[in-house]
Amino acid sequence: MKFSKFGQKFTQPTGISQLMDDLGNALKSDQPINMLGGGNPARIKAVDELFLQTYQTLGNDGSVNATGTATSTTALNSMGNYSNPQGDAAFIDALVGFFNRHYDWNLTAANIALTNGSQNAFFYLFNLFGGAFTNEAAEHNESNQSIDKSILLPLAPEYIGYSDVHVDGQHFAAVLPHIDEVSHDGEDGFFKYRVDFAALEQLPALVEGRIGAICCSRPTNPTGNVLTDEEMSRLSDIAKRYEVPLIIDNAYGMPFPNIIYSDAHLNWDDNTILCFSLSKIGLPGVRTGIIVAAPEVIAAVSSMNAVVNLAPTRFGAAIATPLVKDDRIKQLSDNEIKPFYQQQAKLAVRLLKEALGDYPLVIHKPEGAIFLWLWFKDLPIDTVELYERLKQKGTLIVPSKYFFPGVDVNDYKHAHECIRMSIAADEQTLIEGIKVIGEVVRELYDNARC
Ligand SMILES: Cc1ncc(COP(=O)(O)O)c(C=O)c1O
Repeated sequence: MKFSKFGQKFTQPTGISQLMDDLGNALKSDQPINMLGGGNPARIKAVDELFLQTYQTLGNDGSVNATGTATSTTALNSMGNYSNPQGDAAFIDALVGFFNRHYDWNLTAANIALTNGSQNAFFYLFNLFGGAFTNEAAEHNESNQSIDKSILLPLAPEYIGYSDVHVDGQHFAAVLPHIDEVSHDGEDGFFKYRVDFAALEQLPALVEGRIGAICCSRPTNPTGNVLTDEEMSRLSDIAKRYEVPLIIDNAYGMPFPNIIYSDAHLNWDDNTILCFSLSKIGLPGVRTGIIVAAPEVIAAVSSMNAVVNLAPTRFGAAIATPLVKDDRIKQLSDNEIKPFYQQQAKLAVRLLKEALGDYPLVIHKPEGAIFLWLWFKDLPIDTVELYERLKQKGTLIVPSKYFFPGVDVNDYKHAHECIRMSIAADEQTLIEGIKVIGEVVRELYDNARC
């Protein structure tokens, strides 16, 4: 069977698709696995209980007919009817109220659209703002030359899931980070990535008008970095100066799931596209993403929803609506989700320091998200090879080179010396997994010294 170019693009094996298959297959095997590789959120008891309770209410809140069956329940209404392409109207109204209660953004329903997870939102947005554009200068000469624009990632490394979303080719320009060695909780052995604004402002693609949007995840997957308010405000200024939108991927950010420990604030204006998700509060299976943006962007997303999905899924919206209406989603985030991951990060850092304190391991300062990013300075092997060795011993992580969309990693040693480990696993898995990482990495450094 022959596939179109589009078909070939989306079916070709990529490094990361192979790795994900590998992670999936490892989970199916009989061997016990320390799963520190995936991006699934943890199962937190209080969170699970609230979702289950809300879910049950949705199935029982209608009227009861003569045979004792509940009819017109919220569950039936949302399963039995499409929403319009913009998304479930009751949830959008609840979100408008919620954001306007907590921020002075003055949103209306025209500022919000829903998608089937935020991954779906990035597929839309990166194709809306990256790829072939009509060249306005050429338009006046009546030639139909087009110009190719990229998504600017101001701080590599970035989220692996962005890499392959363009329908045609890859359209990213990324800026390598400044690396600052910092202390954390009074201890050395940490670093923090910072945006290299001098390099960013000189980037030929930016200066020559070949950038279609700027995007960053905050907190960042894979590093747990949180761009500072000052960095965000400078990015916002640059985006306005070049008349491109600033897309903020808030999958781990505030006000939900609020897995963020540094002092940071969230801003929105007409030139900002904020992407939220219900996944990391613990509902990845309901596939619900939320976009807050100018009405022009929301209309474009709604049109794309109509073509790709007819309408976005409503079940996540149905569960989240009551929790957004009375702020329980925020309380859950502040009182359960954030402290849980903060505790997990502390535990993992302690275990890593015990295992590798005397070795050249530095850890990205844990400021948020559900991962730690470990840098093994001058590791004698590439971390893709380290991944293989750890897998042989039943421990799964993700090697760093996949997290650099827009960067030629062949010329960048640092991209081969880091790993991402999830901290969403239970305590015993963290203990076992870090024990294996410690043994394998110590042996590598010790053999290189001999
Ligand atoms: C930074 C970031 N953005 C977006 C997503 C996509 O999440 P979802 O499609 O489940 O909302 C993820 C998932 O891991 C992520 O880590």
